[in-house]
Amino acid sequence: MPAELVCFEPGCRARYAITEVIYNCPSCGGLLEVFYPAPAQSPAELKALWRSRRTSNLALDVSGVWRYREIISFLDSYDPVVTLKEGNTPLLPAPRAAEYGGLGRLTFKHQGFNPTGSFKDNGMTCGSVQALRLGMKRVACVSTGNTSASMAAYASAAGLQPVVFIPHGNISYGKLAQALEYGAKTFQVEANFDEILALVRNLAEELGIYLLNSINPFRIEGQKTIMVELMDQLDWDPPDWIVLPGGNLGNVSAFGKALHEMKALGLIPRMPRLAVIQAAGSAPLHELWERTDRTNLKPVRNPETLATAIRIGDPVSWPKALRALLCSNGTVEKVTEQEIADAKAVIGLCGIGCEPASAATLAGIRKLTAAGIIDRNAGVVAVLTGNLLKDPDYIYRYHTGQLKAPNGEALLSRFGNQPVVVPNDAGKIARLLV
Ligand code: F0G
Repeated sequence: MPAELVCFEPGCRARYAITEVIYNCPSCGGLLEVFYPAPAQSPAELKALWRSRRTSNLALDVSGVWRYREIISFLDSYDPVVTLKEGNTPLLPAPRAAEYGGLGRLTFKHQGFNPTGSFKDNGMTCGSVQALRLGMKRVACVSTGNTSASMAAYASAAGLQPVVFIPHGNISYGKLAQALEYGAKTFQVEANFDEILALVRNLAEELGIYLLNSINPFRIEGQKTIMVELMDQLDWDPPDWIVLPGGNLGNVSAFGKALHEMKALGLIPRMPRLAVIQAAGSAPLHELWERTDRTNLKPVRNPETLATAIRIGDPVSWPKALRALLCSNGTVEKVTEQEIADAKAVIGLCGIGCEPASAATLAGIRKLTAAGIIDRNAGVVAVLTGNLLKDPDYIYRYHTGQLKAPNGEALLSRFGNQPVVVPNDAGKIARLLV
């Protein structure tokens, strides 16, 4: 039995061929998921196979996504796969960040080590090969920056034309620069992410362009491998908590699906708990989580945060995110601009660094340990979603005391590290160093 697309809505569960160009259930409008028959191998055989591929030089095995292809087996042939050797991201212990977060120990899984500097690459290698399989010529996405950078790279590598839509003035230059350099036709739209997504969904259908936002279920499959690789790196011993930032909520959906499938297949003995952290000015999932009636998410009409990657008020994947949280006994926290800025500087001081959205994880951990929700002795992995160099402007402003919250309020540079301008005079410089 081949893989199928299945409606996510429990009351519908309609099934569609894997080759249909659909993003929502044509019958009820629900989100779609890729559904598989179980792999033929036993859990022990899969673990041994995946581990052995780490010594292989075959492109598919070197990829930290396709190495785990038995758990994302939606293709008939792997020949068209375009890989930039995504995944393979390290686990980095961070004692200083652990202390700041109120934990005995903390490990970061740094997705910023990906080829285009974010976790989007895990999904995009899958989305781009599905576009090729469907005979598409052009692919499009709306993005706060990282999706567009990643899609541009993978589409160009695959010989597809990337078309990118970004909110004018609200993405970092590092990300915009990547989209341009990787050859994307780039539209800076004078609207926010949610408004542009609504516009582009119609446009893509009209023009026959394949949509590679995280509503695309094949991207979710690729992002599942972040969790599979993590468990492989932990020798299949799950941590107590996995903490990640939440924007459009594709990543938490992917993590939830991966953990659920790994548990069902017997690859892991228990589910780790998922904690999603949102920026306070863009926190619709947090608002939903706090309510007793969770039947409908109330969009935030004018989302605001300097962590522009997660400046999203109407996340499309919220039903999947909610299921992931319920099924993992998870939680949702929100953090302020100041909390994100300080946590980010602390991650920098570990010699690790990340972009602002990623730092929401550590800020959230600090709050969740203080509230007694995460135990001080718990095993915690925080996923850093994007590379430090994605947003250098934010960093420079923070360290020089010029960072302002979206409401104009000046942020404190609690861990500021101001560069010093000096004359070309060895004596004067030496005096500054005593
Ligand atoms: N962290 C970073 C660095 C991101 O770029 C994003 C999302 C997220 C976290 C949130 O992930 O949407 O799956 O909940 N960036 C998207 C983009 C929206 O367009 O690049 P999510």
